[in-house]
Amino acid sequence: MSWSDEPVSSDIEQIQKVLRASQRLPRHVAAIMDGNGRWAEVRSMPRFEGHRAGMESVRSVVKACSQVGIEYLTLYAFSIENWKRPAPEVRFLMSLLESYLRKELDELHANNVRIRTIGKTNALPRGVEKILQKAIDRTAANDGLTLTLALSYGARWDIQRAMQVIALDVRRGKLSPEDLTEQTISEYLQTSYMPDPDLIIRTSGEIRLSNFLLWEAAYAELYVTDMLWPDFRDKDLYNALLEYTQRERRFGKTSAQVDQGKRSPQTTMERLRNALK
Ligand code: IPE
Ligand code: IPE
Ligand code: MG
Repeated sequence: MSWSDEPVSSDIEQIQKVLRASQRLPRHVAAIMDGNGRWAEVRSMPRFEGHRAGMESVRSVVKACSQVGIEYLTLYAFSIENWKRPAPEVRFLMSLLESYLRKELDELHANNVRIRTIGKTNALPRGVEKILQKAIDRTAANDGLTLTLALSYGARWDIQRAMQVIALDVRRGKLSPEDLTEQTISEYLQTSYMPDPDLIIRTSGEIRLSNFLLWEAAYAELYVTDMLWPDFRDKDLYNALLEYTQRERRFGKTSAQVDQGKRSPQTTMERLRNALK
């Protein structure tokens, strides 16, 4: 089903319109989807129920990004450190991922979403790896939202891997140490196909990156909310985007030197954000 045919409330529709027309929208949004366990614990449920509920948020946020024309969405779904969790939780997360891809692939494809992945994916169970590859291959030619799932991902792991390949290429004579630039390093990372993240959202109130996109996040705007991931839905994403459009990104320059296009007046912003409550 095409998402554009689905009915939305008039408030959401109006906000989508404002965001689509904004010249200050991020190209790349990344999210650290945290707080599933706590969401379940406060409801006296087992942790895995939190992960299950979190999948609804994934659906909602992917669709919301696609509908306002975000080009890249990167979701931190499973870190390389998360392998240290109890085996039953890891197994549950893997089966959830597999069923998400199986269930959603047709709809994602129908909505022009291109699926990619970053991380040590050969560590994933066979079933997950296979469906992931199928999703990547099937959606490769889509030119709508690029949805990247960070799975078994760690930024330090990726940097270490890239350094190893760089060293090997120097040894093979493919690269000379004098030519090594920041750009070269970016090109050797698994994230080379995407622009750096403009906005990184983290739910559950933790103010840290937890080994996510360390190189790429150099100038990302950070947005931390106390909401737990399973409660975070389309309107909360739009709230974050509205806040982002009001930020001034200086990249080391002075305020007078940067001109990032017109911001919406504060009153409009307040009205829109109130409509999201
Ligand atoms: C995020 O939620 C999901 C993954 C890390 C896979 P958590 O499972 O970390 O939830 P909390 O932080 O324990 O509440
Ligand atoms: C970060 O969450 C990883 C993901 C959301 C996939 P964690 O819950 O694993 O992070 P820490 O351990 O609290 O830093
Ligand atoms: Mg956590």
